[in-house]
Amino acid sequence: MGEKESETTMSVIEVNQIVKEFNVVKREKGLKGSLKALIKPERQTIKAVDGISFCVEKGEIVAYIGPNGAGKSTTVKMMAGILTPTSGEILINGVSPHKNRKKVVADLGVVFGQRTQLNWDLRLGESFELLKRIYQIDEATYRANLKTMNEILAIDELLSTPVRQLSLGQRMRGDLTAAMLHSPSVLFLDEPTIGLDVDAKNAIRKFIKDINQSRKTTIVLTTHDLGDIQELCNRVIIINHGKVIEDGSLNDLIEKIAPFRHLIVDYYADIAPNHPKAKIVDKADTRVTYRFWKKDITAARLIEDLSKTVQIRDVSLEEADIEDIISIAYKGKKAD
Ligand SMILES: Nc1ncnc2c1ncn2[C@@H]1O[C@H](COP(=O)(O)OP(=O)(O)OP(=O)(O)O)[C@@H](O)[C@H]1O
Ligand SMILES: [Mg+2]
Repeated sequence: MGEKESETTMSVIEVNQIVKEFNVVKREKGLKGSLKALIKPERQTIKAVDGISFCVEKGEIVAYIGPNGAGKSTTVKMMAGILTPTSGEILINGVSPHKNRKKVVADLGVVFGQRTQLNWDLRLGESFELLKRIYQIDEATYRANLKTMNEILAIDELLSTPVRQLSLGQRMRGDLTAAMLHSPSVLFLDEPTIGLDVDAKNAIRKFIKDINQSRKTTIVLTTHDLGDIQELCNRVIIINHGKVIEDGSLNDLIEKIAPFRHLIVDYYADIAPNHPKAKIVDKADTRVTYRFWKKDITAARLIEDLSKTVQIRDVSLEEADIEDIISIAYKGKKAD
């Protein structure tokens, strides 16, 4: 295959059947178990990542989500070249991060919300200067990126503050700026909004949107905040126990798990008229909740039909709750 051809067919991120095993000391319950583990530790292998595959195309923002311990951070660390897969292959812009980490990180920004990449002992501005030297960023690029980040995250006001004195939200602004200084085309953000207040979250979401739109930056975002996903991501990959269990748009996921809506009708009288295309799932005095499948009937038609026989006082529509949908998806079930 010629160079040109491979360039046009290549995804920005290609993850192929990766596995990561950790060798850990077996934990047994109780004091006796703890003592035994200390004196004669028994080891066992756990598969944190168990055959994960996916591709990400240029300019996508992908939510990489799953319950605690699912294997998200382990995947991100392998993609960033921090951990080596036990088996399988990863290519970032066609380059393997564990075989050629230097080349991959030259075009990659990584932020771990749980742990800063900045130097605790330096002022924020000095920490950036250090990265400038490490990444050999030219002055013009460095200045331009700092300026952009200042416009989005008001970073200038923090430059002379020692990193250890930054609040969590300020530190996250610093970490995001640090990740962008060398203009990477790929960003891995592992819980960038963890523990942040509403304003700080919004600032970070704005940063993600802006950078994705203006630079076509490809972003993989790990988060437990479903607002992040709703606002930012056109695609959701859900993993659990080290395996991909869903990969698609949030809307498709909702359609798959709960392809229905609820119509809540308040009648003037204590009645509950049936409809052939809706199911009564709740009744409290004069308030009746109908569940209907979007493919069967529209809300407007259902209201029209019901109001033909009985007078209606009020109606409201309830969409599927995203928290519920994700929780059900994590359990690998369908809503009923
Ligand atoms: N260095 C390590 N040594 C041993 N086990 C590890 C190591 N790193 C992760 N694990 C284990 O691998 C599994 C996956 O961990 P990982 O950090 O990838 O989960 P996660 O999906 O990021 O979870 P969270 O939402 O809590 O951040 C867990 O069972 C964890 O205990
Ligand atoms: Mg994690």
